Amino acid sequence: MRLAISACLALAAASAIAQSWAWDDGTTPFVVSPPDVVERMLRLAAPKPGERLVDLGSGDGRIVIEAAKRYGAQGLGVDIDPRLVRLASENARRAGVEALARFEVRDLFETDLRGVQVVTLYLLPDVNRKLLPKLFAELAPGARVVSHDYDMGPWPFDEMIELPLAEKLVGPPGRSRIYLWVMPADARGTWLAELPGHGGRWRFAIAQRYQLLEVEASVAEGTVAVRGARLRGDEIRLAVVGTVGGRGFVHLFRGRVAGARIAGEVEISDGETSRTLPWNATRE
Ligand SMILES: C[S@@+](CC[C@H](N)C(=O)[O-])C[C@H]1O[C@@H](n2cnc3c(N)ncnc32)[C@H](O)[C@@H]1O
Repeated sequence: MRLAISACLALAAASAIAQSWAWDDGTTPFVVSPPDVVERMLRLAAPKPGERLVDLGSGDGRIVIEAAKRYGAQGLGVDIDPRLVRLASENARRAGVEALARFEVRDLFETDLRGVQVVTLYLLPDVNRKLLPKLFAELAPGARVVSHDYDMGPWPFDEMIELPLAEKLVGPPGRSRIYLWVMPADARGTWLAELPGHGGRWRFAIAQRYQLLEVEASVAEGTVAVRGARLRGDEIRLAVVGTVGGRGFVHLFRGRVAGARIAGEVEISDGETSRTLPWNATRE
């Protein structure tokens, strides 16, 4: 971002709106996300009308304003630079979305994210990393975090797209990366479920790192192996193969994790026929 800062200082000299106010003191400087990037960030996060979106370090307000205009999202932009907060508020008024798009002078680390469904970021990599515990402490499962150009350190992304932007001088030159994370539910532990007429008691031992799961499954009357496990927000999916009651089956478990319960269904197929049973598991 050192390169970024020199570049945006150069831009500041040439532009009517100051593009940078900060020196290289660990504070993220003001650099705007290009319109194509804003559009793709919002498409990835897909805010629903009425959902709450927060842009941490909102600059001229473009992300919050676009989210209000295109998605009807209720947005808050926070920035520590009062001049940018005034500019963003004025831009929201001009765009006719001031009822949905609010801006406040606030440190992003002191911004309450509880009840927020979408968080957008264009910050330095170290700042993203420092934010990580706060995101996990305050966001609910299913909340989406979208970041322009920089990842979230140890938290693996759920999706990433790269846009070629020939004119881009800041961050990785000539391209932008956009990352999406979906806040995972806590699925750790041992889960028990009864599948009457299909093996009896099933046990699932789940280890979890962020959204990555390692699952072992066992069943009273059979032998099974987990072939795939996926967690996206509160939605869990497991593919399990094996022999139950002396016959070979493929099982596709799909459910939602809510506290100490998983509620969903399992599709059971022997290659010729398939049937669906409820899957209700409780944490042991
Ligand atoms: C790279 S700009 C991103 C602007 C906008 N989100 C966008 O994508 O176009 C980062 C912004 O974060 C703001 N910022 C830096 N440190 C901050 C902090 N601790 N709290 C709130 N805002 C901060 C800066 O003033 C700047 O406007």
